[in-house]
Amino acid sequence: MTNETSRADSRIRHDDDPADGLFPESVAARYDHPGGENELAVITPAVDVLQDLAGDGPVLEFAVGTGRIGAPLAARGVQMSGIELSRAMASRITGKPGGDDVDVTIGDMTTTRVPGRFSLVYLVFNTISNVTTQDAQVDVFRNAAAHLRPGGLFLIEVGLPDIRRLPPGQDIVPFAVTPGESGSGYVGFDQYDVVTQRFTSNHVTVSADGRGRFRRIPFRYAWPAEFDLMARIAGLTPAHRWADWDRSEFTAESTKHVSVWQK
Ligand SMILES: C[S@@+](CC[C@H](N)C(=O)[O-])C[C@H]1O[C@@H](n2cnc3c(N)ncnc32)[C@H](O)[C@@H]1O
Repeated sequence: MTNETSRADSRIRHDDDPADGLFPESVAARYDHPGGENELAVITPAVDVLQDLAGDGPVLEFAVGTGRIGAPLAARGVQMSGIELSRAMASRITGKPGGDDVDVTIGDMTTTRVPGRFSLVYLVFNTISNVTTQDAQVDVFRNAAAHLRPGGLFLIEVGLPDIRRLPPGQDIVPFAVTPGESGSGYVGFDQYDVVTQRFTSNHVTVSADGRGRFRRIPFRYAWPAEFDLMARIAGLTPAHRWADWDRSEFTAESTKHVSVWQK
């Protein structure tokens, strides 16, 4: 990871740059493809909640990516800033509706400071788990708190580890087996280490010409209680915990949580 802090530029590069981490050009180029998390049915409920929590204040998105959420918020008139590690991802914010109004800084959300005090800092789409040590996850909470006004809110959206599906002795949970035509297909599985709380998401894609691609993405999981403790270390107190953006109740059957703490 880099601690470099600079304004994002809008040039789209064509080679993968190691400084872009797990989201280099080849990933950024596909990130905004229609479907899944890019559907309006997914984006709109999140943007509604974030706009409501922000009130009239400015908002900072950690790991703003291609502006999937930040750009529509800015398009609604919310004063938006973002921190993002990958220039390849950030370069795609410009030109989207609202995108030119997002003030993006290239940097690491564990350490990078941007000017201003915000009424809301948020980190969505499981990205707290991209930070793979407990210390660094605490740094994310501390950095969020440092950017908040008194009374300001920090929100994360993150999936729960699927380890209740692990029988003793097994460490792999498959989440997709999708055969295609002519021998092509996709297989996805998570591999957990319950000692370190690290896991990898594994994506194996085979095309019809027999060529394959195996992508492994490292994560660190934590239960909501551990995130509550990180928030407390950062000087934040619990405000909300929902099962999803519809503000439904978080229960033992929930597969993710949207959690909010207050400074
Ligand atoms: C799954 S994407 C989410 C992007 C965006 N928030 C969204 O909802 O579409 C994860 C993003 O986090 C960025 N990222 C990962 N670790 C980071 C860090 N330590 N600091 C800043 N950005 C980071 C990646 O470069 C990537 O753009």
